[in-house]
Amino acid sequence: METRVLTVDPEHPDPAALAEAAAVLRAGGLVAFPTETVYGLGANAMDADALARIYAAKRRPANDPIIAHIARVEQLDELAREIPASARTLAGAFWPGALTLVLKRAPAVPEVIAAGRDTVAVRMPAHPLARALLQAVNLPVGAPSANTFTRPSATTAAHVLEDLDGRIDLVLDGGPTPIGVESTVLDLTGPAPVVLRPGGVLLEDLQGVLPETTLAPRYLAEDGATDAPGQLLKHYSPRARVLLFTGGREASRARMQEETRRLAAEGLAVGLLLAAEDTAAFADTAAIEVLGAEGDHAAISRRLFEALRALDRRGVDTILVRDFGRAGLGAALWDRLLRAAEGRVVDAGA
Ligand code: TXA
Ligand code: MG
Repeated sequence: METRVLTVDPEHPDPAALAEAAAVLRAGGLVAFPTETVYGLGANAMDADALARIYAAKRRPANDPIIAHIARVEQLDELAREIPASARTLAGAFWPGALTLVLKRAPAVPEVIAAGRDTVAVRMPAHPLARALLQAVNLPVGAPSANTFTRPSATTAAHVLEDLDGRIDLVLDGGPTPIGVESTVLDLTGPAPVVLRPGGVLLEDLQGVLPETTLAPRYLAEDGATDAPGQLLKHYSPRARVLLFTGGREASRARMQEETRRLAAEGLAVGLLLAAEDTAAFADTAAIEVLGAEGDHAAISRRLFEALRALDRRGVDTILVRDFGRAGLGAALWDRLLRAAEGRVVDAGA
């Protein structure tokens, strides 16, 4: 199929483009669109065949469930049942925004959205183009990140096309996504709220509303993953091998310098994902992508997936990156880096 691309002003989306995208969704087609986190690959969440097309386009295994996106809080009642009071409280505090709630699924919602589970994940995105599209189509829209399975998520329309050109109907190009890492996934179906995936809404902020919230992402090797959707350790991976360095900043830099020289001596092309403050320590033995100032987790998150993809385009064999801290948005960054590295962590010491 030919993938059409419509460039849309995110603040003032052209009604004709919205109408076209809504028509594609109503007809069971696939539309990629920006959210404030990453680009989503949307399909009608109430249409099992349309949802199946998402899995096929992404080459995503059938056991990894999909988030339903809504424009109005009332749509929660179409999608979920036995909704706990905590869900309304969180929706009031964080929606529209980068928070996904896992709830018990309503019978009318196709089970394929939840990969056969009894639950459904729901989010009301804040991006003006995503909101306008959801209002125009007036249906809940199932949308995973608009990348090929295990690849870094797409934060620009160009990334979507890199992975999905010819496999989906339409891309709404509304420019780069402002947060750059995915939503926080919070499971409300158990005795206490559990963050399954750290993301754009901070654990600390969730705990400000529901103090008993805990962070419990699971990291599984590929063969053990069948019962744990979206918890594969290999995720967000560039083609290159990624090594993640932890420990003190100076110690990490020194180990990364050492490793850069060693790999270069072996004839391997090295790529570095660096904070602005790190660049002086590295010579021209490597391809360098600067993420942002060291303490600016928002800037680092915004650039992360583009930087991973950029190093892939430059054909590097190995990518070295260090831990930027785990508080605040650092929790999401650490999670994405750990998965990109498929668990290859080098402890450089204090
Ligand atoms: O920011 C985001 O969340 C983006 C934008 C497009 O909204 N979407 C996104 O979707 O990242 P995806 O499919 O790439 O990741 C969704 C995550 C996966 O880890 C999936 O396993 C989890 O949410 N998830 C979805 N439905 C679930 C369910 N019913 N129970 C447990 N986890 C679920
Ligand atoms: Mg994804």
